[in-house]
Amino acid sequence: MKTTLSYSNPAEVETECLAVVVVDRGEKDKPAPAVLGNQAIQSAASDLLTSGEVSGKIFETVMVHRPEGLKARRLLLVGGGKVKEFSSSELRKAAGTALRFLKPRKLRSLAFVLPEVASGTAAGVKAVVEGAYVGNFDPDTYKSDRKDQLIRELTVVAPAGADRGALDKALAEARVMGESQNFTRELVNEPGNRMTPTMLGERARKMVAEVNSPHLSIDVFGPEKIRELKMGAFWSVAQGSDEPAQLIVMRYSPPGAPEKPVLGLVGKGITFDSGGISIKPADGMEKMKYDMAGGAAMLGAIRAIGLLQPKIKVIGIVCATENMPSGKAQKPGDVQIAMTGKSIEIINTDAEGRLVLADGLAYARQLGATHLIDAATLTGAVVVALGGVNAGVFANNDDMYSRFEQAEHRAGEKMWRMPLDEDYRELIKSGIADIKNTGGRYGGAISAAMFLKEFVDDTPWIHLDIAGTAWTEENKSWIAVGPSGIAVRSIVEFVKSMAG
Ligand code: BES
Ligand code: MN
Ligand code: ZN
Repeated sequence: MKTTLSYSNPAEVETECLAVVVVDRGEKDKPAPAVLGNQAIQSAASDLLTSGEVSGKIFETVMVHRPEGLKARRLLLVGGGKVKEFSSSELRKAAGTALRFLKPRKLRSLAFVLPEVASGTAAGVKAVVEGAYVGNFDPDTYKSDRKDQLIRELTVVAPAGADRGALDKALAEARVMGESQNFTRELVNEPGNRMTPTMLGERARKMVAEVNSPHLSIDVFGPEKIRELKMGAFWSVAQGSDEPAQLIVMRYSPPGAPEKPVLGLVGKGITFDSGGISIKPADGMEKMKYDMAGGAAMLGAIRAIGLLQPKIKVIGIVCATENMPSGKAQKPGDVQIAMTGKSIEIINTDAEGRLVLADGLAYARQLGATHLIDAATLTGAVVVALGGVNAGVFANNDDMYSRFEQAEHRAGEKMWRMPLDEDYRELIKSGIADIKNTGGRYGGAISAAMFLKEFVDDTPWIHLDIAGTAWTEENKSWIAVGPSGIAVRSIVEFVKSMAG
């Protein structure tokens, strides 16, 4: 998508479609909803706005042809909801809504009038462009008659008095963010037979080659290296599959970055999770192709980091394998020794994500990470707790958490903090080993996080359980059904803030 800025009067913009945000003012004496950004548009749509046909309700869409007094051929009114609740987060989704409304209507370009938001004009441009990229993505299918409905051109119409340098920068950054999030979504969308660990490794290599930065490098290791590093927890999952496991290691080390901090990004890359010997029920098992969404999020984040070049060292690790039953698969009752030397009793082979992450986190620390973030479709329990709205966040460090929370807000991604009290530790006590890999039915997302905590020690760490949010279950006005690309934007915002 070609994205540009314009500082023209919106009424003068010649375009297929001019999109504006309309809000509900919520005042008794001014019942008509208001267009944010321009008086001429308010007049062009005044009949409609006063007729009661448009309410400003969140993500409502109304299209007007040949709007009076405007050069645009069409005017699209997108509801922004109550004016008091309107922020860059609603704006991001409103932009996505506009694109998704236009796509099936054969329009290929639009101009979006930037409304004022409290976080500022640059944040507004960023939200519009990010939201547009998110909305423009529909997961590819293997249908022979699929159509290309992509929007080709987006113009953001900003106020003439804005700081143009700042908006150019915001636009460029947003483009990288949006493309990187969509790169993650492409990876997650692929079925297990078309995204094996080997193929994921190849895609990672290709991505790093395309970023083409002398400061970003990648190694993709196979089974020998995983065994050589004594990654007994990772290997215990990998041993059951005929597809060779891959350890993807990326290093971003820009000139001028301080020695510390070094941020370690670790992703769960289970390209298909059958459950292993503790096999999952057939019903819904096909969804487990998205069990590499955490790993894909880290690949998307590294892509954005390589392009945006923040001055901070970052290590990205994706532990990629299938989880399969076979004659070589691990069995419930087996005891495995993780890279750190800790012994693990396997109670359920379907609790495999925490096993691969245990060694991924330990390896990131060995490579020098001083701060850790992991992302994983880790537990069904987090879906029970938070549904498809919020991702679960766990943190062992309040300072790191509060910085991350601010990053989430800037990114417009919803996440909710979950507890990690030592009291939960007893859930993973084992009779035969140091710990066991499941903690029972109650508090399942927490016992999984407690398991990971065993492998990060005192390193400040954030764990994102994205099982409920990595896949959007139904079409929304601003995002298509399918892979969401959750966590990419928050992680990149966090990395930027750490770089100062
Ligand atoms: N990949 C699943 C978790 C999952 C569930 C992801 C639903 C996306 C949607 C994970 O590997 C798993 O199987 N977890 C088990 C753990 C249990 C055996 C302790 C679960 O949540 O049931
Ligand atoms: Mn599993
Ligand atoms: Zn899994």
